[in-house]
Amino acid sequence: MMSEDNGRWALVTGASTGIGYHLAICCAEDGYNLLVCADEDQIKQAAEDFRERGTRVEAIRADLATESGVADLYRVARHRDIHLLVANAGIGLGDAFLDEDLLEAQRVIDTNVSGTLSLIHKIGHDMRQRSSGRILITGSIAGFMPGSFQAVYNGTKAFLDSFAFALGNELKQTGVTVTCLMPGPTDTPFFERAGLEDTKIGAGDKDDPAEVAKTAYKAMMDGRASVVTGFMNKVRVAFSDIIPEPTLAEMHRRMAEPGSAPD
Ligand SMILES: NC(=O)c1ccc[n+]([C@@H]2O[C@H](COP(=O)([O-])OP(=O)(O)OC[C@H]3O[C@@H](n4cnc5c(N)ncnc54)[C@H](OP(=O)(O)O)[C@@H]3O)[C@@H](O)[C@H]2O)c1
Repeated sequence: MMSEDNGRWALVTGASTGIGYHLAICCAEDGYNLLVCADEDQIKQAAEDFRERGTRVEAIRADLATESGVADLYRVARHRDIHLLVANAGIGLGDAFLDEDLLEAQRVIDTNVSGTLSLIHKIGHDMRQRSSGRILITGSIAGFMPGSFQAVYNGTKAFLDSFAFALGNELKQTGVTVTCLMPGPTDTPFFERAGLEDTKIGAGDKDDPAEVAKTAYKAMMDGRASVVTGFMNKVRVAFSDIIPEPTLAEMHRRMAEPGSAPD
């Protein structure tokens, strides 16, 4: 499907693969120019795919775990009319916390939390000044569960889930909306990159990233505060409200402990 350029830009982080790749396609098919960003070279190939949809695309390679990477991206973004900000870039890390490399664990926080906040702070100012804009933040249903063997990752997603609702409230009546996307396990390179392939969650059934992206895009354009994708994930979130945290942590252990994948 190809749409006409509506002169507005969508900035999508983490657009090289997975959910972000498909979110970028949703933006392109809705007529937005694309400013896309990821840390590695694959963003260039993704940009070619997006261009084939007839949209204008600029691709930036920047490490959004660093303040200088965010600044590099913003240097380009500030000259564009960014109407949609899809703050999606994120990484996981599996293993027991004390067995993880601390620097790797800190990089999860730097990418998922610090980089995301820094970018939203910059673009959010521009949007508020213009009295218009939509922000989508990729949190996770993982934010509702203490994530044994993924403790830092789940903590970052708990932060983002909470932050998104709070920011959305602060911005009400400004013309800027904030939507928190909370997917469950989705079929992307995330699990391999996080070293979770030998876990039950890594080996289990997953949602289609294209479907997750379509649902998320609609929720963002409708200005909804949040969206949990998939029926079973809605059930998981409902149960997380009533199950005590130590039990949730034990349930997470069964899904994420190294070697928990069925033979
Ligand atoms: N898959 C799931 O089950 C699941 C469930 C809930 C939430 N999520 C969230 O969904 C988001 C997208 O993940 P995904 O599942 O689509 O995984 P993915 O395919 O691994 O995508 C992650 C994207 O983030 C980018 N990225 C990572 N670190 C970056 C950095 N420092 N600077 C710039 N870009 C960076 C990656 O690009 P590079 O490769 O170039 O670094 C890639 O484009 C993440 O926030 C993740 O936490 C995923």
